[in-house]
Amino acid sequence: MKHTLVTLFSVMLLTLTSRSLAQEPLPVYLDDSQPVEARIEDALSRMTLKEKIAIIHAQSKFSAPGCPRLGIPELWLSDGPHGVRMEFVWDDWNHADWTNDSCTAYPALTCLAATFNPDLAFRYGNAIGQEARYRKKDIILGPGVNIYRTPLSGRNFEYMGEDPYLSSRMVVPYVKGMQQNGVAACLKHFALNNQEKNRDNINVEVSDRALREIYLPAFKAGVQEGGVWAIMGSYNKFRGQYCSHNEILINQILKKEWGFDGVMLTDWGSAHDTDEAARNGLDLEMGSWTNGLTWGVSSAYDNYYLAQPFLKKIESGELPESLLDEKVRRVLRLCFRTNMNRNRPYGCKLTPEHTEIARRVAEEGIVLLKNENHFFPIAPGRYQKIAVIGENAVKRLSEGGGSSELKPQKEISPLEGMIEKYGREHIVFTLGYASGAPNYSNELPSGLDVDSLVQEAVKVAREADVVLFFGGLNKNFQQDCEGDDRRNMDLPFGQNELIERIIKANPNTGIILISGNAVSMPWLSKVDGLIQSWYLGSQGGPATANVISGEVNPSGKLPFSIPVKLEDNSAHYFGEESYPGVNGTQYYKDDILVGYRWYDTRKIKPQFPFGYGLSYTTFRYGKARTDKKNYTANESVKLTFTLKNSGAKAGAETVQVYMSQKKPSVLRPVKELKAFKKVYLQPGEEQVVELEIPVQSFAFYDEGLGDWKLENDKYTLHVASSSRKIHSTATIEVNN
Ligand code: BGC
Repeated sequence: MKHTLVTLFSVMLLTLTSRSLAQEPLPVYLDDSQPVEARIEDALSRMTLKEKIAIIHAQSKFSAPGCPRLGIPELWLSDGPHGVRMEFVWDDWNHADWTNDSCTAYPALTCLAATFNPDLAFRYGNAIGQEARYRKKDIILGPGVNIYRTPLSGRNFEYMGEDPYLSSRMVVPYVKGMQQNGVAACLKHFALNNQEKNRDNINVEVSDRALREIYLPAFKAGVQEGGVWAIMGSYNKFRGQYCSHNEILINQILKKEWGFDGVMLTDWGSAHDTDEAARNGLDLEMGSWTNGLTWGVSSAYDNYYLAQPFLKKIESGELPESLLDEKVRRVLRLCFRTNMNRNRPYGCKLTPEHTEIARRVAEEGIVLLKNENHFFPIAPGRYQKIAVIGENAVKRLSEGGGSSELKPQKEISPLEGMIEKYGREHIVFTLGYASGAPNYSNELPSGLDVDSLVQEAVKVAREADVVLFFGGLNKNFQQDCEGDDRRNMDLPFGQNELIERIIKANPNTGIILISGNAVSMPWLSKVDGLIQSWYLGSQGGPATANVISGEVNPSGKLPFSIPVKLEDNSAHYFGEESYPGVNGTQYYKDDILVGYRWYDTRKIKPQFPFGYGLSYTTFRYGKARTDKKNYTANESVKLTFTLKNSGAKAGAETVQVYMSQKKPSVLRPVKELKAFKKVYLQPGEEQVVELEIPVQSFAFYDEGLGDWKLENDKYTLHVASSSRKIHSTATIEVNN
């Protein structure tokens, strides 16, 4: 009886509850069975004017408040782009010094680009997305896709090289890999942040054609093919207007033409005007006028251009509320894609798979530039005594450099990697040179004296069977570091002189340059072995030792040209008006001729060309063939050729296809990269390589037309192993 009564009571209660639930359905914005656009409109309609204003600007250094009353969570942002940055205190640039905010440091984006491997870019983006999600971040401030225009630019290491096609192919999988975790990628810096010098206010004047052909394609690919959810404006100006609220870049191109439906946010402190920010498509204002990057006052978020000043202008009728609503919609859309997506995975960090990805990218990105007399590989046992000389063999290079700094849980240095590979008894190390603290300082660590460092290096070199010099740049200010550019193209901290001394003491010397930028190499003819390495992150040591020892066959290719001297570079060729600018303005006089486009067209021989990189094996290219000879605009050329590993070691070759137009009506570069593929081959193995190249990609941007134009003409496709090494060509004709 008692049991029956209890059951009856429960049934009544259930009925009542479900009835009251039925009477009060979930609000549309919380109901994830509803279309996102309906949820956005519903949430928007419930928000007060003040709540709308609050959601479009920062509440702390790295967060925006969401809408607590409606249960819309805070948005948390983090740098980017090589791993998830450490935590910061609420309102300034001090590290929070947490003990649980370390990460896997992945190799810098120059290295990722040098892999020429889009599958790895996907895994890289996905891995950072997983770590970001685990760390409860909703937006990662990266990747950076500004074009490498000058070897002086302090941030080239955070970007993907000089070629718009290469960076486009690499950015799309990065974005997709990251966003499948419900974490937004944020392309930066939109646009034309091609130097750090005077970055806060330099005005860039560039032709429409160079903008479309060189500087925008990677952003466009990230938006249209990658479906990126956020974009960060750059600090500089374009045609007189700050890029973070630039009518042409944001309203006309990004939003109208490309159909971007995500959030356009500022760089930290890159907004300068409420009216422009309101009207020209800025959706979220971060980081300005705190006591951090921009001089100002603390906790001043209410003073932001998109905060109280915007509210006042709406209340007074000076600006319409519809402008605000449009921004709120975009922020809400981002929330539904990230922190309000209940189905997003939970993420993870520091997994063995993350370590493996960091190592793979490093191994595939290292570029072998010179290898005479079989200098490399150095198999264990080949030499009794290996001298490792140079600060970059031990310096913690994931630190410094500005906002891309990381706190890796583990960073294995090249020296540690070498000791692990060859045994402690076979390695002697000495510093050789020293650079001082990582950030914004050029002082030598106390107690070190340049002369004795050199003397010691010479002695160690003399007594060794082989010398490996680990030098290059580092993340100190005015090196590879945000906020300013390098002063010249030379190796810093007396390295050139040191290298000469070492070579004299022991001619059996190889150089490993670690940098994100080209350096001049006056000693090049005197060394047999040269490797271009990068900021490799957590697994730099093992990756480097694996390549040096031959356990891994190098397959990286240069994502930028290395000129003999700075004046050979297109940006510098035209003097100060072109770089760094005069009276606050610079003219990109090199126009579309950036990187190899310039060296090829002007017949200037670079030290090492774009796309160049050696292997421990050799490859034989067969004759290039196309499926037919005549094409119309909407077809693709099917290009085939054989590739054979003609050496004795398994290896990978990145085959590249460049296009030249026979008789263009405008100046065109001698060649432009239109396709590439990384092919892995066992010794003796031969494969038929097949590439599909859309004919439409042969078009140039016609300024008169304001659109892309494909001319009826003959086009030659060059099958190449670098921008300067062509193995076979095929010519086709386009007839529309
Ligand atoms: C950098 C951005 C970065 C931001 C936040 C700025 O100084 O230019 O790339 O994402 O700081 O740290």
